[in-house]
Amino acid sequence: MRLNGRVAVITGAASGIGAASALAMAREGARVLVADIDEAGAKGVVEQIEKAGGQALAARADVAKAVDNQLIVEKAVATWGRLDIFFANAGVPQFPARIEEQEEAVFDRIFAVNVKGVWLGAKYALAVMKKQKRGVLLITASTAAIRPRPGGQTYAASKGAVVALAKSLALEAAPHGVRVVAIAPVATETPMLATFMGKKEVDAEGMARYIATVPLGRLNRPEDIANAAVFLASDEAAMITGSCLEVDGGRCI
Ligand SMILES: NC(=O)c1ccc[n+]([C@@H]2O[C@H](COP(=O)([O-])OP(=O)(O)OC[C@H]3O[C@@H](n4cnc5c(N)ncnc54)[C@H](O)[C@@H]3O)[C@@H](O)[C@H]2O)c1
Repeated sequence: MRLNGRVAVITGAASGIGAASALAMAREGARVLVADIDEAGAKGVVEQIEKAGGQALAARADVAKAVDNQLIVEKAVATWGRLDIFFANAGVPQFPARIEEQEEAVFDRIFAVNVKGVWLGAKYALAVMKKQKRGVLLITASTAAIRPRPGGQTYAASKGAVVALAKSLALEAAPHGVRVVAIAPVATETPMLATFMGKKEVDAEGMARYIATVPLGRLNRPEDIANAAVFLASDEAAMITGSCLEVDGGRCI
């Protein structure tokens, strides 16, 4: 098991990429704090982990709030005595629209969750990891940071911000033996996919349009990102820091 005995906190872990990562890290031996604004969903993921013989705890947390980030870090440390992995994964999508049609409130919400939420998670998680002299901060960015699509300017800017944040934090954390890595998934089959496509529900037209942009000819499944996250959190990735790993079937080439 590649994460045996490790303690992980994953935000946005009630659904999609976060849920798949919680299950995968637990399968690899990690004890996982499943944090999400959707508490019932988080509890459901914990049940799945426990049924499979793993250890996990659910916590309701809004990553846009400092106190919630502080509490999930403290809960993991109080329960399991350490913090090896913090996966700042929670995020919100954007319905594509021209900038002149965007409400300022959309910008504020996207940046509150996708940027400030990651910044706050880093603030509390890295404080513990630096003292421990070990740990890995993972951040879910997006290919939108590297190869955006038209109409998704606000979301793309939020993900670009966290790629830069990951690089800067990697330099700050390196002297303490702590790594920071961003992951950039291409469109992934989770509940937020329809919003990126500008639809209420994913349909054949949206799928065909998106798949046509991915050289490997399919979209990500949440497990594709979970596999990358397990690797990046493990000692196999000991020399990887400050990188933004594209998990994108070639979309960014
Ligand atoms: N699905 C895609 O196409 C795609 C592509 C690239 C990057 N991403 C990124 O992947 C991450 C995970 O998204 P997903 O695709 O698994 O979507 P998802 O909708 O399945 O999961 C997102 C989770 O985040 C939670 N969440 C939202 N706001 C929160 C908040 N303020 N505090 C705590 N939790 C909150 C939601 O309740 C949900 O459980 C996001 O950062 C997203 O931007 C998604």
